[in-house]
Amino acid sequence: MAKPKVAFICGSIREKSFNRRLGKAVAAMTADRFEIVDVPIGELPLYNQDTDGDDRPPEWEAYRDMVRECDAVLFASPEYNRSMTGALKNAIDVGSRPKGKGVLIGKPCAVFSATPGSTGAENGNLALLPCIKTLDMPDMGQPEAYWGGVNDDKVALDGTIADAGLEKVVRQFANAFADYVEKHCG
Ligand SMILES: Cc1cc2nc3c(=O)[nH]c(=O)nc-3n(C[C@H](O)[C@H](O)[C@H](O)COP(=O)(O)O)c2cc1C
Repeated sequence: MAKPKVAFICGSIREKSFNRRLGKAVAAMTADRFEIVDVPIGELPLYNQDTDGDDRPPEWEAYRDMVRECDAVLFASPEYNRSMTGALKNAIDVGSRPKGKGVLIGKPCAVFSATPGSTGAENGNLALLPCIKTLDMPDMGQPEAYWGGVNDDKVALDGTIADAGLEKVVRQFANAFADYVEKHCG
């Protein structure tokens, strides 16, 4: 049977993003359980209801097609000013429409957040909850994943984790999410 497909939507669009690196770590840890599809959001025009008709931007359509083909979603939510990033909110808005036909609606999901700061970007992570609720997305509740103190020494650009403590919590999250995806998409 084909492996489930999981859309990875990373709220950071910067090249050396720690959240992206940890998404790569999760992908490596779960490669035998599901396929991760990296869905870029950096070039999405800002959502505008006026242009969501027949002449909608091709970037929205490409993004929507990628998400539509996936069975579940893994969000990485950095924290900007105690909330999610603008890029991520825009991607959620684009994925939520046209009304009733949004490609995110109903897809099982999980959220992790990472920051060099000590709080684990908890506010950036939890800021997604109202969106997830309104989009009727089943959300993996445990383990919660707020990863603080992340830096270049702990995780390399390719997602290799050098820090045992971080590796342990990322692996716990990755395994739980693989179980969650199998339960909801198997
Ligand atoms: C505009 C802006 C606002 C930020 N606000 C927060 C914040 O509220 N809390 C926090 O922990 N880090 C904050 N940071 C620092 C980010 O956590 C840090 O840049 C982090 O590396 C972003 O995630 P990334 O590595 O995946 O890009 C902010 C950074 C920027 C650029």
